[in-house]
This record gives sequence, structure tokens and C-alpha cells, in this order.
Amino acid sequence: MQEKTVSGFSKLSKVGKVRWVVETFFKDPENVSRELMSFWHEDEEQQRILDGFSENTISNYYLPYGVAPNFLVNGKLYTVPMVIEESSVVAAASSAAKFWLARGGFHAKVIATKKLGQVHFSWKGDSAKLFEHFDELEKRLRQDATHITINMENRGGGVLDIELLDMTHLEPDYYQLKVSFETCDSMGANFINSVLEEFGSTLEIFVQEHPAFKGEEKNLDVIMAILSNYTPECIVRAWVECPIEALGSGCDEMTPDAFAEKFAKAVRIAHIDPHRATTHNKGIFNGVDAVVLATANDFRAVEACGHTYAARDGQYRSLSSCSIENGQFRFWLDLPLALGTIGGLTRLHPIARRSLELLGDPGAEELMMVIAATGLAQNFAALRSLVTTGIQKGHMKMHLLNILNHLEASEREVAEAIEHFRDKVVSFTAVREFLKLFRAKKGSLA
Ligand code: MEV
Repeated sequence: MQEKTVSGFSKLSKVGKVRWVVETFFKDPENVSRELMSFWHEDEEQQRILDGFSENTISNYYLPYGVAPNFLVNGKLYTVPMVIEESSVVAAASSAAKFWLARGGFHAKVIATKKLGQVHFSWKGDSAKLFEHFDELEKRLRQDATHITINMENRGGGVLDIELLDMTHLEPDYYQLKVSFETCDSMGANFINSVLEEFGSTLEIFVQEHPAFKGEEKNLDVIMAILSNYTPECIVRAWVECPIEALGSGCDEMTPDAFAEKFAKAVRIAHIDPHRATTHNKGIFNGVDAVVLATANDFRAVEACGHTYAARDGQYRSLSSCSIENGQFRFWLDLPLALGTIGGLTRLHPIARRSLELLGDPGAEELMMVIAATGLAQNFAALRSLVTTGIQKGHMKMHLLNILNHLEASEREVAEAIEHFRDKVVSFTAVREFLKLFRAKKGSLA
């Protein structure tokens, strides 16, 4: 244990950090160190940029960067960049995009773009008095934060509402300032947190200096000032629709009617059952996260918010819904998404910058719509497979290819294996056996 602790690690050079890690934790330090360093960017400037995003970096962790073409969203065609390590996701998005391309594409609209933050504080006093002086306090809060808000105001954003909440029925002496913001094309985390911290200082000074507050009332203790990642009013809707008969060839051997009914039932099940809802929403986030990552947005924030939203009535439910009315199939997704296309890493990460360029340099609202459409496409593709052929058919081919790749199969062996496993269960052992036999047979013929 002792020899695995270290002090002053952050001050070591990068090579020094690699050395400590490999010598402390690995049996073959030379190899591991070579491997870690082989992933360093050959361009030192690029590496410096990447290292600047985090701390104690010793290497880069690569993920595949793919694109899903043919995404028609509100009449505009996009090729959507996706960063994801799971096979079949980009293929599924592409196939759903193509399917809906022929049926009017995706539609999307941003419903609202309000972000939220809170100053949580303790105060022992007559709450009526605090509310009585709230107008005065609000003016002071806004005034003191002008030096932070002025630029955002010039861009059309800033602080929207400030609400004082008495939470003492839940926790003694607990109050909250609930603040809403418009942050335009930036996600706005730094802006919001700076404003909230300033509000915290103003609050403390306000009660200290105001003659209406006496004795203990002069002591207000700010517990914390931080944005809320739950932004139910920063939300986008994406949908697809078509007459049922137009679903046509998308439905395997089922009739379009049977397919639509089965699909809608699968969505209803995800509304009823939290176990299914979790997997169903995971499928949506396969698409959402991949684009959020490709554009260097905060996928943890997006996930946390989406899942809270999915449980907004007290039970975790599907984020998407489906209706069949008057012969029309409609499938939609409501998703809270706090994103930025300026600020943060969006323009610093070299590939994220290219992702935005690939999407035609969208503003935050356009990006919200593209991402929601990608989530919906992913969800459509997953459900379409699930209610028709089952998910394993597509997955197994990728699984087979991964195993063959691992076993260094030749092109000919790959082709033979695909044919052989067309109607068989793929497993590592089965593929290894197949290759062994195939190679032996080939050897005996040679
Ligand atoms: C796999 O990553 C995602 C799915 O499980 C989603 C779903 O079940 O809807 C296929």
C-alpha cells in the first residue's frame, strides 16, 4: 500500500508521471511506458492543447470518430459526427436517417432555453422580513453582478428571474435563491457559477448592512452557489411522422399496421416499466452522447439532466413517445439539453471544432435539434430491430468481425466465417474453432 502512494505527483514531468505509474503498477514497465507514449500526439502543439484540458495526463485515450450521413432535420441535410465505442450505433443511426430521409426527415423545435442555478443558504430570522425586502435585494443582486453579466446581456442573454424560496419546512433555516438564465450559444456553466457566487456575497452583505435586520438576522451563511444541471426548461422536441402505410419496407415481414402497433406498444412498455425504460433511454443516449462528445459538450450534464427529466413524475419513464392516430404514425422525443457551440472545449478541441464545422457551424439551438434527432433515430433503429428481427442479428455480425480481427483472420477467412456463422451463434470459442479447422483444411489441401 505504502509504496503505491506518492506526493508531489502533479509536479513531476510527464515522462516522470509515466515512469511512476508504470514502475508502481505494471509487471512490464518498459512495454507499458512505450505503449502509453505511443499514443502521445506527434504534433507537440496538439498534445499541449489536449494536456491543457485536464491534469496529470500521461497519455491520450482514443475513441472512434464516425459520421452518420443523410440526416434531414427541418429540411436541412446533416452528416452527424459521432464519438462512440459501441459497435452498431453509428450504423443504426445512419440506417434510421436514411429510412426517414425518404419520409420527410426529422422535425425538431426548441421549446425553451432557460438554464438554472441556485444559491443555497442558511438564515435564522423572520422569513416574512426577508420576503418583504426581496425587491430591494433583487435590485442589489443584479447591480452587483453587472460586471459579470454585461457581456452576456450584450449578446442577448443574462439573468432572467430571481426567486426566493423558503425551504425551512424541509430543513431548518434553509432558504434558496433560484435563478434562471439565458446563456445564448454557450452552455454557460462558468457564467452561471460566477453570477451565483457574486449573488452569494451580495446576500451576506445585504443582511449585514440593512437596518431592517437585527442581531442573528445579520448572519446569513451561504452553503453553496452552483448551477443546476437539471434544466427542464432548456428543452427540445424532435419527431418523425408518416402515414402508416408509408412505413412499408421498414418493417421486415410484418404489415405496416402490425409493425406500427408493435412499435407503439414497445414504447408504451418503456413508459410503464422502469427496467425497460432505462434500457430504452440508454439507446436514446447512445445517439445523444455520441454527438455531445463529438462536439466536446458535457455528456455527464446531459445524461444527469435527461435521467432526472425521465423521472419527473416520480417514476423513471421513456423519454420518447409514440402515437397512431387517423392512420398517422408519430414518434417523438422531448429532451432537455444544455449545450454550447461557443466556449468550453467546443472550439478548443481540434476535432470538436471540425465536428461543428461539419454540422455547418450551428448555434446552440440548432445543435440541440440535431442531437435530439440523432437520439430519436437511435431509438427508432433499436426499437425497429427489437420488434422485428431482434437486436442480436446486427450485433452478432459486428461481434464476429471483432473476434476475427482479434484472431488476425485474413480477408478470405472473414468472408468464409461470415457465411458459416450466418445461422449459428457467435462466440469466441466457436470462431476460434472455426478458424482452426479452416486453416487446417487449407493446410492439408496445400
Ligand atoms: C444497446 O446499446 C441499446 C439497446 O439496448 C436499446 C434498446 O433496447 O432500446 C438496443
